[in-house]
Amino acid sequence: MAIRTKRAVLPRRVLVLHGPNLNLIGTREPEVYGRNTLADIDGRLNELADELGVNIESFQSNSEGALVDRIQAARNQVAGILINPAAYTHTSVALRDALLAVDVPVVEVHLSNVHRREEFRHRSLIAPVAVGQILGFGADSYLLGLRALVDLLQKPSRTRR
Ligand code: DQA
Repeated sequence: MAIRTKRAVLPRRVLVLHGPNLNLIGTREPEVYGRNTLADIDGRLNELADELGVNIESFQSNSEGALVDRIQAARNQVAGILINPAAYTHTSVALRDALLAVDVPVVEVHLSNVHRREEFRHRSLIAPVAVGQILGFGADSYLLGLRALVDLLQKPSRTRR
């Protein structure tokens, strides 16, 4: 299925990926990550997706391999990926390679502003393969990220960036 817009054909599917320990948000370090649960965030993303005319599919895993498998399964199936890689942001060559293999626009999001935190969180192995990063706005980082991704998908691919 595709939405025909004035400028481009917009495939409707966006994959939302949540990395390790994000299943615990709401109660995990609420002073850092806020009080929204992952279900709250997915609910708000679904409402926004309806408004924007896209379908999202959310997947959370604590396992790097399961995330890589899910990214690979998205090959030729989704128009873009919104990802909070969580701790794998800072360590995972495997996630980065999988995202490159799928070859669709990626937006990286974080609940917290990782640059105000420990130094090991300042480096993202994912950022160089993403179109951009949105971080520090709590649950709103995801909503802003989805808006940015869908906006990008509406542009002809040669003008994206
Ligand atoms: C996080 C930041 C990471 O450094 C951390 O490991 C997480 C969550 C965030 O959303 O702020 O688990 O990705």
